[in-house]
Amino acid sequence: MKHEQWSSRAAFLLAAVGSAVGLGNIWRFPYVAGENGGGAFVLIYIGFVFLIGVPVLVAELTIGRKSGQSPINAIVEVAKESAANKKWKFLGWLGTFGGGLGLLSFYSVIAGWVMAYVLKAMMGMFDTIDKAGTHDILGAHMADGGTMLMWHLAFIACTVYIVGKGINAGLEKAVTFLMPILFLLLLVLLGYSMATANFGQAVDYLFTPDFSKIDGEVVLNALGQALFSLSVTVGTMLAYGAYLPKDVNIVRSAGLIAAADTGVALISGLAIFPLVFAYGLQPTAGPSLIFEVLPVAFGQMPGGAVLGPAFFILLTIAALTSSISLLEPAVSFFEERKDMNRWKSAIFGGAIAFAVGTLTVFSNNEWADFYPLAFLGIETIQGDAATFFKINDFAVSNLIMPLGGLGIALFAGWAVNRELLRKEMALPERGIFEIWHVLIKYVAPVALIAILYQGLS
Ligand code: PHE
Repeated sequence: MKHEQWSSRAAFLLAAVGSAVGLGNIWRFPYVAGENGGGAFVLIYIGFVFLIGVPVLVAELTIGRKSGQSPINAIVEVAKESAANKKWKFLGWLGTFGGGLGLLSFYSVIAGWVMAYVLKAMMGMFDTIDKAGTHDILGAHMADGGTMLMWHLAFIACTVYIVGKGINAGLEKAVTFLMPILFLLLLVLLGYSMATANFGQAVDYLFTPDFSKIDGEVVLNALGQALFSLSVTVGTMLAYGAYLPKDVNIVRSAGLIAAADTGVALISGLAIFPLVFAYGLQPTAGPSLIFEVLPVAFGQMPGGAVLGPAFFILLTIAALTSSISLLEPAVSFFEERKDMNRWKSAIFGGAIAFAVGTLTVFSNNEWADFYPLAFLGIETIQGDAATFFKINDFAVSNLIMPLGGLGIALFAGWAVNRELLRKEMALPERGIFEIWHVLIKYVAPVALIAILYQGLS
């Protein structure tokens, strides 16, 4: 079937940056950097973005555009044209369902917390609150499975609504409206943090590498963060590439997307860590970092009553422009079947993510002591209790994504016809194309195998 196309290069870029910039930048990056020792982790993460992430991003956009189909069928079609094995399509399945919907299922739970925090901030619950107070608020929120479930549902419903409306009337319209607001709010927050006394300490923390903190696990976490943040390996960029007009320069777009995404992650770090230090909080707090840290800051700072709700609204927006891109691969795949239209597909995909997400919701309360992998002797993962939530996050970011990235690199580098890719990128034989091809064919696979091996052993 023929899918809609992005109406302009700018619309595509906003959508792709909207996908890349999300909870991964503002919620996940600061706490993962904090847990992994700061500066050295940040440096390795940036290296992976450009050495592995961007080449994979280019490959996905190119393969997507070449076929114009959903990720799964794009891989089938490009494999066929290259006379390669059709079994490569498992990569599309792994990305679309394991990666895309699997990630959406817990992404939307976190996004639900964020929405709940918009309301809490508006109601003035953070006024003059201290560390213990925010800890209690988060604890109470997490303990209440029913309310969490409702927010999870609300967020999935918003996602389904936008995706159901289609590429032009849904995705594109949402990002052109939301992304400028997002950038503006982020800059306001950064401006505020720059004025606090602890800004220099945050710069040091994020940019002074201490390599003694690096081990295989940290490197794997940096890779996971790079792939997660760029929205690669789970079908998203294959799907977004399929709607891309032929005259858009893919390599340049990929560079822009990566630069914007990394820029926003670093800006978020620079906006959040000064507050962490200023209010005597710990950078190693984990997933709860921004939920425990920021309310204290908002509750005490002048103007916090406005900035607090604004921040959580910002985060909701960032999450929404990403969640739609997590649902899109499955929806475009369902849509290619005769018996499914776009609305049906969106609702069906959303329902799957909602159902799986309930496990994440209850693993924070009712089932907090239930370790699904205990029968294999796995009760902790990287030092945290192996609840369903932890398993899901770890499996997606540290297994499915690196493996998916390895799969895409091997597929594009070894299985797909080189000329087919070069023509789709509209590049000359020498120069950038050659560099990309070496990166995707040799550098990315070797690095990915080494990192997976080191990080998991
Ligand atoms: N990149 C998004 C973020 O940083 C998450 C995401 C991953 C979205 C993969 C789509 C695909 O929040």
